[in-house]
Amino acid sequence: MMEPIRTARLTLRNWEERDRALFHRINSDKQVMEFFGILRSRAESDELFDRLRGNIDRDGYGFTAAEIAATGECIGFVGINPTDLAPFIPKGTMEIGWRLAPEFWGKGYVTEASEAWLTYCFETLKLGEVVSFAVWNNHRSTAVMKRLAMRHDPSRDFDHPRVPDTQPELKRHVYYRLSQAEWQQRKKAAT
Ligand SMILES: CC(C)(COP(=O)(O)OP(=O)(O)OC[C@H]1O[C@@H](n2cnc3c(N)ncnc32)[C@H](O)[C@@H]1OP(=O)(O)O)[C@@H](O)C(=O)NCCC(=O)NCCS
Repeated sequence: MMEPIRTARLTLRNWEERDRALFHRINSDKQVMEFFGILRSRAESDELFDRLRGNIDRDGYGFTAAEIAATGECIGFVGINPTDLAPFIPKGTMEIGWRLAPEFWGKGYVTEASEAWLTYCFETLKLGEVVSFAVWNNHRSTAVMKRLAMRHDPSRDFDHPRVPDTQPELKRHVYYRLSQAEWQQRKKAAT
C-alpha cells in the first residue's frame, strides 16, 4: 500500500483503473516516446500498468501516477524505481524517472514531483544516492536532472544494451547522480 504524497499542486499515488487510457496515450505517443524507439499497444501498455501498480503495492513507492490535485486529472508518471543494468548500473541503484502527456510539459510539474521523491529517498528510505539516465540528446529530460542539481558523471555514460543496433541514435545514454551528502548540502544552502 502506498500513502499518497502531496506537493503544492500534485498528488503522487498508485495507479487507478481510470488512468489506463492516459497511460496508454503517453506510451503510444510519438513525441513522448521519441527517445524510447517503441510505441506500446494497449495490451502492452496495460501489462506495464499492472506491473508498475504491483510494484507500488509491494514496495510503497515506484513509478507513480501524478495527478493535478485541483482537478483530479492524471498527467503521467514521476517516480522512483530500483534498477540494475549489468555491467553499467549496479544492483541496488535507485533511479528517478518521468513521462508526462505533452500538454502538461513546461509547467514545472516534473521538477515539483521529483523534489518530493528526492526527499522521500533521502529522508524516508535514507538512500546514499539517486541516479537518472537518458539518451544523450533528450535535453528536456537532462534539463530536469540539472534543475534537481543532479551531477553528470561522464565516466558512467553507457551504450544501452537493450537498444537494438537498428536504432544507433538511441544507444548512448548519459548518467546523472545525486548523493545524500550533496542533497543535504543543497537543502542547507536553501534555508
Ligand atoms: C522529460 C519531461 C518529463 C520533462 O517535462 P518538463 O515539463 O519539461 O519538466 P519540468 O516539469 O521540470 O518543467 C520545466 C519547464 O517548465 C517551466 N516551468 C513553468 N513553471 C515552472 C515551475 N513552477 N517550476 C519549474 N519550472 C517551471 C520551466 O521554465 C521549464 O520550461 P522550458 O522547457 O521551456 O525550459 C517531458 O518532456 C516528457 O515527458 N518527455 C517524454 C518522456 C521522456 O523522454 N522521459 C524521460 C526519459 S529518460
